[in-house]
Amino acid sequence: MNTATEQASWWGTLKDPEFLTNPYPQLKAWREQGAIHHDAASDIYFVLGHREFSKIGRSPKMGRDTRLWRDGWATPEAKARDPLSYELFSEIQPQMINVNPPDHRRMRAVFEEAFKPAAVAALAPMIEAEARRLIEQLGDGGEVEFIKQYAAPLPLRVVCNLFDIPASMDDTIRGWSESFIRVLDIMVSPEHRQEALVAIREFKAYVKGLIDERRKHPGNNMLDTLVAAFDAGILSEQEALTNLVSMLVAGHETTVSLIGNGMLCLLRNPAELAKLRADRSLMPGAVEECMRYEPGGNMILRVAIEDFPIDDMVIPAGSMVLGLIGAVNRDPGVFADAERFDIARPTNNLQMTFGAGAHTCLGAGFARLEGKIAFNALLDHFDRLELAGEPRWRLDRMNARSLASLPMRMGRSG
Ligand code: HEM
Repeated sequence: MNTATEQASWWGTLKDPEFLTNPYPQLKAWREQGAIHHDAASDIYFVLGHREFSKIGRSPKMGRDTRLWRDGWATPEAKARDPLSYELFSEIQPQMINVNPPDHRRMRAVFEEAFKPAAVAALAPMIEAEARRLIEQLGDGGEVEFIKQYAAPLPLRVVCNLFDIPASMDDTIRGWSESFIRVLDIMVSPEHRQEALVAIREFKAYVKGLIDERRKHPGNNMLDTLVAAFDAGILSEQEALTNLVSMLVAGHETTVSLIGNGMLCLLRNPAELAKLRADRSLMPGAVEECMRYEPGGNMILRVAIEDFPIDDMVIPAGSMVLGLIGAVNRDPGVFADAERFDIARPTNNLQMTFGAGAHTCLGAGFARLEGKIAFNALLDHFDRLELAGEPRWRLDRMNARSLASLPMRMGRSG
């Protein structure tokens, strides 16, 4: 896409640092113009209304397979014009989030057992132990860089524990994830593509080693589930590797945002934080409200499998559709006084940050549990939690919405 086209298109705004710092006034203005917008410059449909996203997200006529995207990366012309992008997207394609039925059901079924409520609840002691370990390192508090010292390391270690990945790999995996997540920006800049391709191949080679090792020395966790599915021919080798890499990325980057963005919401609304401290039964609602108010992802993707009539338009087969979740989650038709952060909001569980329909986040229960444990552990240990400076949003990602830094002051009287 050239600069002139970008300027005419919503994409120019979507990657503007001002928008990335605070997208909500622009999203509100766009939503007031209409619940669905067709961006002629990019031929992409943006969805801003809650009712509309809910319908689109749940419809079997709307999939997630970007190979069906008309004029997208998988066409023969695109392959000839931009072989590097073709190679890159082919490398991340074979996983459940990028396929439609019946492949989607086949892949998702492999992991479903491990994410059932009882299995997730059994992980609580492990998550609590990791939260306690980080809090011990914070000691009596004082000035803390919250993202670096708590929000980022906790989800990374927790998801790595699911696959018995040693702590010595944390920095390497963080680096690979950074590259991987940028590819999700759809219009990732050319200079990042080569770097991302190298990182994804290294990441896959590493998880292949984990799988080979586990086959020789069986255990009893998610890694064994994956090995069994591969050995039974349910998943191909590329599918096993790509799903595992993706789960390591999806399972931590998004939860860093939940803890970081959520903490910022609570700090900016001290009355809500005090209410939560006084009554911890409000915690599940508080986690929902954090995700509604400051979702960790800006966009959720669909590709129309067939022509899709909605409101007064028809979205043609092969179109890319992007739900702008910051707008969807503040739709006043569903959320009264939507711009207010309210942990006891009765409708906050209607937030769409985990998506909708067949692809709804498989790890949602796990992420919610981790969010609750992360906030509870902080409230248990510290009597005072305050902002200690201006937070900084990451401006190098268009889709994932997360903080680069959150300076905090923490203290305990006991
Ligand atoms: C706050 C944290 C999280 C957020 C905001 C989040 C968000 C999402 C979203 C938006 C989707 C796509 C939904 C759709 O297209 O409708 C998704 C899918 C998925 N997520 Fe999460 N996620 C989080 C945490 C996790 C965790 C902890 C794991 C696993 C350890 C995980 C694993 C997955 C998987 C496997 C899929 C693909 C599901 C499918 O295609 O059927 N996520 N997530």
